[in-house]
Amino acid sequence: MVAASIDWKIRVLQDPSQPRATVDGKKVLVLCSNNYLGLSNHPRLRQAAIDAVNARGAGSGSVRAIAGTMDLHAALEKKIASFKHTEAALYYQTGFAANAGLIPQLVGEGDTVISDELNHGSIIDGVRLCKAERAIFKHANPSDLERVLNELDARPTPPRRILILTDGVFSMDGDIAPLKEITGLAEAHGAMVYVDDAHGDGVLGEKGRGIVNHFGLEGRVHVDMGTFSKAFGVVGGSIAGSRDLVNFALNKSRTWLLSGSAPPATVAACIAALEVLETEPEHLARLWENTRYFKKELQSLGFDTGISQTPITPVIVGESSKAKALSELLFEQGVFALPIVFPMVAKDKARIRTMMNAELSREDLTVALGAFEKAGKQLAII
Ligand SMILES: Cc1ncc(COP(=O)(O)O)c(C=O)c1O
Repeated sequence: MVAASIDWKIRVLQDPSQPRATVDGKKVLVLCSNNYLGLSNHPRLRQAAIDAVNARGAGSGSVRAIAGTMDLHAALEKKIASFKHTEAALYYQTGFAANAGLIPQLVGEGDTVISDELNHGSIIDGVRLCKAERAIFKHANPSDLERVLNELDARPTPPRRILILTDGVFSMDGDIAPLKEITGLAEAHGAMVYVDDAHGDGVLGEKGRGIVNHFGLEGRVHVDMGTFSKAFGVVGGSIAGSRDLVNFALNKSRTWLLSGSAPPATVAACIAALEVLETEPEHLARLWENTRYFKKELQSLGFDTGISQTPITPVIVGESSKAKALSELLFEQGVFALPIVFPMVAKDKARIRTMMNAELSREDLTVALGAFEKAGKQLAII
């Protein structure tokens, strides 16, 4: 991998996750963090973590199902359910653990799982672990999903259960899944809907409640899965839905049952993140203001920002070598933005993926746009 130059270049952050930080010994503007709202450094989250260490210690001591469920875990799950307007919720150690642990339990032999072709790797691994038959529908394409559903219905023995899986916001292009149409089709064909809203949690919907709220689909989506590792600024995965779903998930998800539970500081910070979202709407407003401004300015410089509808803003440049060169030139000018290359995206769609952040000032954005303009001209991209 090293010889073929396809190994990942790991840069090291020597400050908190914030827009102006030291990376590999250099002060840079960070345009590739998932800490969309800056909550990782919010004083309420920091204090909640400190208080939890003082009150409950550094670790939980066990897996959730034995002695590792603290009152904090229970309080967080209550808060998630209230935030998501669902009956119940379950907190996992990570979003990856939620997908890998729950998907293989929801469907098995005699069932079919239908997945968007661009779904995240954690969904793909969850699907690989299940014994159900697998089908793919074209990216964000309800007509193609309908074709697959019709074909399944027309069989002499249709599947016992059908599970439709989709990302809420797609992490490479920043586009939003057509969840309304997907849910309508699922209802017409008696299928379940599972949405992975890792990049929509804290970003879409009223107060950042996510894609289900954004489309007014509360009560109609079976599994609303999310993460605390992005806009919520901490770490951990979640599922929200009915009480029956949560009881099923906690009895069946091996990642939840057989792996140590999150430490008190993490859980307390997650609770504080939800409280901040409920009470401080300014973070979300600034995130979207920055997103609109940055995207518009990049486009007026002549960059191709693809089909993004969210703070994930790709700058599509073509070949992998060009994306890597652009990232290097940006870093030289003090802007940290990573290239995304084949096989993560198509060979001719390599890009710099920028993520907007509520904490970036207008001055920061002007500096970043200046660096993009200079490097883009140097590489004849614009
Ligand atoms: C769409 C999507 N799903 C799931 C995950 C995994 O979430 P976590 O970081 O909580 O494991 C990610 C994070 O990379 C993601 O982008």
